Amino acid sequence: MLLLGIETSCDDTATAVVRDGRTVLANVSTNQDEFHAKYGGIVPEIASRQHVALLSAAVDDALARAALRLDDVDGIAVTAGPGLIGSLVVGVAAAKALAFASGKPLYAVNHLHGHIFAAFLDADVEPAYPFLALLVSGGHSQLVDVRAPAEMQVIGKTRDDAAGEAFDKTARLLGLPFPGGPALERLAAGGDPQRVKFPRHRPDAGTLDMSFSGIKTSVRYFLDGDGGATPPADVAASFQAAVVDVLVDRVERALSARRYAAIVLSGGVAANDALQSAFRAAGERQATRVLIPQRRYCTDNAAMIAAAADRRGERARADALTLSADPNLAF
Ligand code: KG4
Ligand code: ZN
Repeated sequence: MLLLGIETSCDDTATAVVRDGRTVLANVSTNQDEFHAKYGGIVPEIASRQHVALLSAAVDDALARAALRLDDVDGIAVTAGPGLIGSLVVGVAAAKALAFASGKPLYAVNHLHGHIFAAFLDADVEPAYPFLALLVSGGHSQLVDVRAPAEMQVIGKTRDDAAGEAFDKTARLLGLPFPGGPALERLAAGGDPQRVKFPRHRPDAGTLDMSFSGIKTSVRYFLDGDGGATPPADVAASFQAAVVDVLVDRVERALSARRYAAIVLSGGVAANDALQSAFRAAGERQATRVLIPQRRYCTDNAAMIAAAADRRGERARADALTLSADPNLAF
């Protein structure tokens, strides 16, 4: 099956063409960072206006790079939620229009399912079930028990900030530019992760939930009291180490309760090298395979949306052209 994917849930205007949920023929993403950077975060109104301005060309671009016409694809997959409503409606409206004009089926995709199936894009590996997915992005941090392509359950989640949000907020405390996660990682690369022992908060024993706002707050108190004595690189590395520890701890706890064929690490924060190394080490300790999407498929992209639609398989019914975007779409 050859699918055109469209993703506009946040600030990336993304389109892709993917064959059979794994082979990426085109992956186009127009990053809007320059429009949001001066505000220190994503401005929803600007994001949706940029999607309107960019999306049509991004669709043409993906089809051109795949050397295809709209008539050649078997369907159109679009992110229906969760995300920013003004951003989502642009992608959904475009996908419905393309489906209507071409007579091709429309597939509504949950953005978070997309992140999970990103691990199998351009990879020599097929999903083996059940697998455990840790989804860490700017808006979400959750552990998902994936029993089958359409049978997934969230078994643990953050009780406050998402891991990426903690990176972004801490980066701002350190005076780093937006987007904060990658900038903080670059700063941390030259720092000592043992220098400051930030608290690793683990909610009660019986849960797989997690929490990150305490780590961020303790960085703020530390910086206030420190008066610039500690090199920022050490603070960044120590913060990053605390987040990584909490995430690895949650995954090891989930693995101790149940056997999984693999661990999938996905979402924007999965691009973080320290996190990737810690996961590979945990996978060795637990004798469990660790799968991480290629870096370009860790952060938001449309190839993962096409992949998730495809992985639903034969049973996937096309969605009606009355489809609405849902900013709070449940997992
Ligand atoms: O999945 P994503 O692109 O968008 C959402 O669905 O949220 O994730 C974006 C998040 C941001 O919080 C960003 O700072 C974080 O992922 N991020 C990183 C890195 N690259 C992106 N966090 C830590 N280290 C990175 N290298
Ligand atoms: Zn995302």
